[in-house]
Amino acid sequence: MSKQPMILDHPLVQHKVSLLRNKATGTKEFKELVSELATLLCYEATRDLPLEEVEIETPIAVAHTNVLSGRKLALVPILRAGLGMVDGMLTLLPAAKVGHIGLYRNEETLEPVEYYCKLPSDIAERDVIVLDPMLATGGSARDAITQIKKRGARSIKFIGIIAAPEGLKALHEAHPDVDIYVAALDEKLNEKGYIVPGLGDAGDRIFGTK
Ligand code: PRP
Ligand code: URA
Repeated sequence: MSKQPMILDHPLVQHKVSLLRNKATGTKEFKELVSELATLLCYEATRDLPLEEVEIETPIAVAHTNVLSGRKLALVPILRAGLGMVDGMLTLLPAAKVGHIGLYRNEETLEPVEYYCKLPSDIAERDVIVLDPMLATGGSARDAITQIKKRGARSIKFIGIIAAPEGLKALHEAHPDVDIYVAALDEKLNEKGYIVPGLGDAGDRIFGTK
């Protein structure tokens, strides 16, 4: 199944992405914005969660109404920057389990290097949402999802904040079954593999390491 990426055009999303891009935005506000954007993206990415009808007594009458049908979810942030999205996702999905996968980009080759992977033991039974604010070359998301599939997961979505066209294409070609949700699609990558205009190094801005 081949799917189109979803670029959220909601005014709140666009406003928060603009604040995030500003180099004058400090670590505290940056972290808060990443978390808020994760919540807004989560709302859109969970639009297809299945429901089941239940009967509930209101103070007035019996209502035939819908609740989530108990699908099990797992969030998998790509370390480091994906960690900044976890709390915002858990605001809407408090019962989701959280796995972690660690990848960093080799600064010369831009190829991802994996250094950590710990997933819920029943990952194969869960709908997985992979989190990373930046989809640049797409190598990190591509390899993270390959690893998660190797451990049995079959239902996977990717949520990011800013994507480059190169990253969207690479991820979609490697994993055409994965639904992609991002808040902005930027112009290009520069010669160092940074997204232009982008927001700089997401991990450094979330954790204040530069
Ligand atoms: C950043 C970002 C993504 C990756 C995107 O992480 O958080 O994981 O780059 O680039 P790609 O699409 O070209 O793979 P980085 O490698 O800087 O590691 P860090 O989060 O530990 O700083
Ligand atoms: N990783 C980031 O944090 N920012 C970019 O622009 C590209 C990769």
